[in-house]
Amino acid sequence: MCGIVGYIGHREAYPIVLKGLQRLEYRGYDSAGIALYDGKDLKMSKTKGKVADLKKRLENEISTNGTVGIGHTRWATHGEPNDVNSHPHYSNSGDLVIIHNGIIENYDALKKELKKRGYTFKSETDTEVLVNLIEDVIKKEDVKLGKAVQIALNQTVGAYAIAVFNKKKPDEIVVARLGSPLAIGVGEDEFFVASDASPFIEFTNNAIYLEDGEMAVVRRHKEVKIRKIKDDSLVDPYMHELQLNLEQIEKGGYEHFMLKEIHEQPNAISDTYRGRMLVEKGLIRMAGVDDNMERIANAKRFIIVACGTSWHAGLVAEYIFEDIARIPVEVEYASEFRYRNPVISENDVVIAISQSGETADTMAAIKLAKEKGAFAFGVCNVVGSSISRETNAGAYTHAGPEIGVASTKAFTTQITVLTLMALKLGKFKGTISNSDFQFYLQEMERIPGKIKKALESDELIQKIAFTYKDAPNCLYLGRGYNFPVALEGALKLKEISYIHAEGYPAAEMKHGPIALIDEQMPVVVIATKKGHYEKVVSNIQEIKSRKGKIIAVVTEGDEEVRELADHVIEVPETIESLTPLLTTIPLQLLSYHIAVLLGKNVDQPRNLAKSVTVE
Ligand code: M6R
Repeated sequence: MCGIVGYIGHREAYPIVLKGLQRLEYRGYDSAGIALYDGKDLKMSKTKGKVADLKKRLENEISTNGTVGIGHTRWATHGEPNDVNSHPHYSNSGDLVIIHNGIIENYDALKKELKKRGYTFKSETDTEVLVNLIEDVIKKEDVKLGKAVQIALNQTVGAYAIAVFNKKKPDEIVVARLGSPLAIGVGEDEFFVASDASPFIEFTNNAIYLEDGEMAVVRRHKEVKIRKIKDDSLVDPYMHELQLNLEQIEKGGYEHFMLKEIHEQPNAISDTYRGRMLVEKGLIRMAGVDDNMERIANAKRFIIVACGTSWHAGLVAEYIFEDIARIPVEVEYASEFRYRNPVISENDVVIAISQSGETADTMAAIKLAKEKGAFAFGVCNVVGSSISRETNAGAYTHAGPEIGVASTKAFTTQITVLTLMALKLGKFKGTISNSDFQFYLQEMERIPGKIKKALESDELIQKIAFTYKDAPNCLYLGRGYNFPVALEGALKLKEISYIHAEGYPAAEMKHGPIALIDEQMPVVVIATKKGHYEKVVSNIQEIKSRKGKIIAVVTEGDEEVRELADHVIEVPETIESLTPLLTTIPLQLLSYHIAVLLGKNVDQPRNLAKSVTVE
């Protein structure tokens, strides 16, 4: 959940580490810190708050020279977010410095031992315990830093991506990974280490991703050597050629990443189906499904595991798979699934959905399902992410980097991939007719254009946002395919504007939430023509007779709801199962504009992080 970055090479480390931290800030922004080696000594600066606060502080505090440096942006787990608990952390001698993303679960026991041996601690963090444990190993066993890190890590329980530097051996950085991501960028006589490739993309396209349980000593003028932490065996490094470019991770003229990403959806969706959907041939190609067709199509049941927005995409997929491919589906919060004793058999296929591909609970759910013999299929956005590697097969979403903490294009591209998968399975199983299949493909091709049309309501939505920005609560209602969209709309509003919002199946309103409705309560209702329209209109009438304020998302040209609602936002017509791809758009824009009007930090909402690598 934190971001780590490091550099060793021939350039000034400071601007690289600082820029890298800004790019990784989506991973956590409770505090930020940097340690630089200026050729003689280590200089450190850290502060509660954002990388911008660190930058201000650095200008007065330390010299920023040197060709080695490490930095950290934190999402607090152990200890409140203050200056002392911020990373990096020194060892007691001041020789070693560490940055860490993860949790050392047995830190308390280790700390007690170290205290008995005379170590003292300034912070409440598990990380300061780890760096002193490493120092203790160096002293006791007279070993080099790499070996000491290995010995120390073998005494820990938990998760980590770490980078450790020893000022007495200034030509190397030792890195290790278990459960948290770590990439090594390999340039010409220079190395970068980071939680993802964004900090080094303008310097090199070559990256090695450490696997769980691996460590590396990254040395100037030497090749990277990777070893298994457990048994010291050497691992052949696999060099990835990155497809990422700088433009993809910058705002490109938009005020916020979230707005840029909302507007990227037409392209993100066509990138997701391009090369897979061969409309003229009436074919869908998905290697991960094609190569495992029998196993997947003959599954007794799909179990979808995910968190947050990805879980909402899973709920939409439940309707699609059951509708089109006639495969029974259960959708589970990964965090609940993994702590139950779920009944899973070898005939089950577990589908893990995750934008980051790093969500700890989703990862653990897959491992559990695999242990019980299920086949694991991943739907991830980040290429090479942990979940994409852990699953037996999968399909990437090709949404491009999503930086805004509030997920937008990840959601619609996940639905796109899952729809393609359902169609492909339906065709294979004969549960969809050829003509319907063909019609779906053609309609899917029209979706990017229809999203562009839906985006044209931006100005209207901005006005609606102004009217309701001070509402303390908001209700979102939808039925069928649009019930998960209601949940997603409510999540978007609460996470970036901090307004309490609830999503409900529209028909459930009368079983409780209707009691909340009065003239103060805005109710966003998804009332598209395809999908239980008449029933939803009745629900709208029920709200109206209790004086609730109705914001309706309707199909273009709808006059009936216009008569009833206080505001209508139109989206183009499409097949019922594809409506979530359109109805989501106004809800994303509504929450975006409300948050902007309230002066909230849209891209980095309080207490959140983009990638939740802790349980
Ligand atoms: O990377 P993942 O898709 O696994 O992340 C899951 C959730 O943490 C994520 O969707 C979260 O709910 C978003 N902030 C929602 O906008």
